[in-house]
Amino acid sequence: TSPELIRNFCIIAHIDHGKSTLADRMLQLTGVVQARDMRAQYLDRMDIERERGITIKSQAVRMPWAVVGEDGIETPHALHMIDTPGHVDFTYEVSRSLAACEGAVLLVDAAQGIEAQTLANLYLAMENELEIIPVLNKIDLPAAQPEKYAEEIAHLVGGEPEDVLKVSGKTGVGVEALLDRIVERIPAPTGDAGAPSRAMIFDSVYDTYRGVVTYVRVIDGSLNPRERIAMMSTGATHELLEIGVHSPEPTITKGLGVGEVGYLITGVKDVRQSKVGDTVTNQHKPATEALEGYSDPKPMVFSGLYPIDGSDYPALRDALDKLKLNDAALNYEPETSVALGFGFRVGFLGLLHLEIVRERLEREFNLDLISTAPNVIYDVTLEDGEKVKVTNPSEFPTGKIGEVREPVVRATILTPSEFVGTVMGLTTERRGVQIGMDYLSEDRVELRYTLPMAEIVFDFFDQLKSRTRGYASLDYEPSGDQTADLVKVDILLQGDQVDAFSAIVHRDKAYDYGVLMTAKLKEIIPRQQFEVPVQAAIGARVIARETVRAMRKDVLAKCYGGDISRKRKLLEKQKEGKKRMKNIGSVEVPKDAFIAALSSE
Ligand code: GTP
Repeated sequence: TSPELIRNFCIIAHIDHGKSTLADRMLQLTGVVQARDMRAQYLDRMDIERERGITIKSQAVRMPWAVVGEDGIETPHALHMIDTPGHVDFTYEVSRSLAACEGAVLLVDAAQGIEAQTLANLYLAMENELEIIPVLNKIDLPAAQPEKYAEEIAHLVGGEPEDVLKVSGKTGVGVEALLDRIVERIPAPTGDAGAPSRAMIFDSVYDTYRGVVTYVRVIDGSLNPRERIAMMSTGATHELLEIGVHSPEPTITKGLGVGEVGYLITGVKDVRQSKVGDTVTNQHKPATEALEGYSDPKPMVFSGLYPIDGSDYPALRDALDKLKLNDAALNYEPETSVALGFGFRVGFLGLLHLEIVRERLEREFNLDLISTAPNVIYDVTLEDGEKVKVTNPSEFPTGKIGEVREPVVRATILTPSEFVGTVMGLTTERRGVQIGMDYLSEDRVELRYTLPMAEIVFDFFDQLKSRTRGYASLDYEPSGDQTADLVKVDILLQGDQVDAFSAIVHRDKAYDYGVLMTAKLKEIIPRQQFEVPVQAAIGARVIARETVRAMRKDVLAKCYGGDISRKRKLLEKQKEGKKRMKNIGSVEVPKDAFIAALSSE
């Protein structure tokens, strides 16, 4: 297809504003999916996505759409719709998907208005100089207020409220007009067909049958079947075994030219060999300069993952090895904990990424897992100048510390104006600094903050939601680091450290953490033959203490008379129980107690 007849676009929308439903309707109207094959959310393939109703992996589909000109002549166009992941954890992937487009449909629920996430992605699209097509969705809803929100959107993106299209993905109203508008407003791609080929990878997905499927957007030149390609970040070369487009089922083509969006298969088995943001070129006629914007995925949040049943450790390792094939951002290394045994320290892009991975491990690989409280990465400089990167609180240096730096985020919070005070209260508790505030309309406010990332990964989002009765929305992106007065609080049983409970917290909150954890452990730890002090300490200084009282536990006490077999049974049972015990110094604690303490957060 010649570039003038191509339109590349994505849909920017907040979760639940109806992106998948609209995409389904477009597939149907353009005839690439027959009505009888239509199933809800055709593009969301993973079960977990379907259940949680979120899109994790982006997809690209090609759809034919003919527009009728003023002369009555039909001109067929090829639309490439690139589905972007909707969550903050995947900002980099979103930015690459946007970079593959010339335009974006800004989809807003006509009963809800703009949300923080929409706003963040909209700003990203604007930075990428995409043509924005504002659309209000769900106008069939009785609660829809299209006039009100059209005003809000026009205010935000410029233009007139009348220019905002009104559609319903559910009934199909207005969707044809939207397809026409996409052709009319979004610029055709431009590129140099004669130049050495350059194509940008905006997604890569592991498929059990086909190996890694790499989604690309051709910028210059072309990619052709059977040619040898090179990845510009690593220089690795591969043969193009298959090249084509999804429409929406994979369809082999004779190649991809300037502006086209499609997939390629080289037979590699690991998404790390086909990295998002990388440039694909021809091995024998390579481009000299890679496309801008490539960066390696960086884990931001770490957590220890342990099998509840220690014998599952090899199964957990195999499962992580498998997941890694499909997730270039997943990072892990083995770790042992006194309290929890053998496990892994795993790096994630953010909290949602953590949840998704954990859920997939439990569901797809049938594992029962416990995870330690998530933490961010700290840069610690000791007084003697030595620098240490801390990804596990129990490794926080004990020597004289010069400076600790913690990552911060820039957060955007949208809230009805009645909750402004509530939001300010929460952000202050979490060491936030306000950097801006705007009224989007009379009753909706955008607040901007810098906040320590550690304060966000804890339970910030839950707190925000519950304190604003679900009305506020949040988005954030990493924004460098800052020095902070942070200390490591250790939890000690009978003077021995319980590694899984060490935490790095702000000095002002150390005491609260200490009191909370010692009280919790006191409840959970069974009485021993002797008194067990449960302490919280910063270095050698104890800041909180509880005591588990002594109790003599004699399993034979219940046995009167001489029934030896019954006695033996009870002793056997006690031995079994002991296997599940963990020794912290001389204190025996059932592993379940640690698990309970970690999960009741
Ligand atoms: P994510 O994949 O989580 O980003 O969600 P989404 O934006 O793709 O939303 P989805 O298409 O799954 O729709 C969310 C909910 O809104 C579903 O219950 C849909 O049935 C409903 N919905 C979508 N479009 C419309 C519409 O035009 N009218 C009405 N009444 N409901 C709609």
